[in-house]
Amino acid sequence: MDAIADLRATYLDQIARASYPDALEAVRLAALGKKGEISLKMRELGRMTPEERKIAGPALNALKDEIDAALKARRAALEDAALEERLRGEWLDVSLPGRPRPRGTVHPVSQVMEELTAIFADMGFSVAEGPQVETDWHNFDALNIPPEHPARQEHDTFFMHRSEGDNRPPHVLRTHTSPVQIRAMQDQGAPLRVIAPGRVYRMDMDQTHTPMFHQVEGLAVDRDISMANLKWTLEEFCRAFFEVDEVELRFRASHFPFTEPSAEVDIRCSWEGGQLKIGEGDDWMEILGSGMVHPKVLEAGGIDPTRWQGFAFGLGIDRIAMLKYGIPDLRAFFESDLRWLRHYGFSALSVPNLHAGLSG
Ligand code: PHE
Repeated sequence: MDAIADLRATYLDQIARASYPDALEAVRLAALGKKGEISLKMRELGRMTPEERKIAGPALNALKDEIDAALKARRAALEDAALEERLRGEWLDVSLPGRPRPRGTVHPVSQVMEELTAIFADMGFSVAEGPQVETDWHNFDALNIPPEHPARQEHDTFFMHRSEGDNRPPHVLRTHTSPVQIRAMQDQGAPLRVIAPGRVYRMDMDQTHTPMFHQVEGLAVDRDISMANLKWTLEEFCRAFFEVDEVELRFRASHFPFTEPSAEVDIRCSWEGGQLKIGEGDDWMEILGSGMVHPKVLEAGGIDPTRWQGFAFGLGIDRIAMLKYGIPDLRAFFESDLRWLRHYGFSALSVPNLHAGLSG
């Protein structure tokens, strides 16, 4: 029986020392596998005398059971240990802040539209809208632009296609946001104070012009509105928008069919080293057209020009975005280059707000 005691000692020892599942499996095969030591011993029982078998049989069976139980217990212990190990390794601090995964950015034009909407809202202006495909009446006639005016030429304005024989008056891609003046007056009557930001279209393309660009129209109609109110409103807007105490504006006498008198307004800036800076330098950048609303335009909007008067302006949004954020080339605004968008874009979370700072 010494042989059995040896086997027992050997395998229990090997089981105890097996430190990973494959090693344990090797021990099992060596002991209890088809050609395992204990299995072979059991096969020898057939060749024993009945007396010998009576003793060896139960002893071998008991050994087999004991080894089997020891294997199972060790396997369970190894699995527990492996689980513990994994739990330790995969420990997770759920209180850590999430990793930011920035996706898109807000385009500077959208950002600036939000900014100027916030500033003008603070001065009592609400936002009005009109269609981008506009009747030529709203875009031209109602604004006192005569049929022979150069802006109505085919090489300046995008006219919508009309089928042959369709003689209705043409539709155009609006060439400015001024037709929204007419729509707002028709909708709201006087008094009123609105801005109308949006896309406009002209056949023009160079470093400072693109066929589509953005304007914001401003219109204030009341009993005794004057050029002085216009000048104050624009200066106040520029100070808030550029977030500086002083900006210098230059009013130049000009002509628009829909305002009388009319003025174009430039802002002092510098272009040094390809960088645009506002409020300093010897350059001027034209940013808007403005004036007192022409009586005929008030009339077209359904407002009595003997009782009401107002000012209007049209401001280039892309221009002031370039100035404020030092963006040198207008064309890049509309190329959708991801590097440009990442560089000049804004976080979706920085919503412009007059009190918290405009650019977030
Ligand atoms: N509509 C003019 C333009 O596009 C700007 C303007 C608007 C001028 C309102 C005067 C009054 O150039």
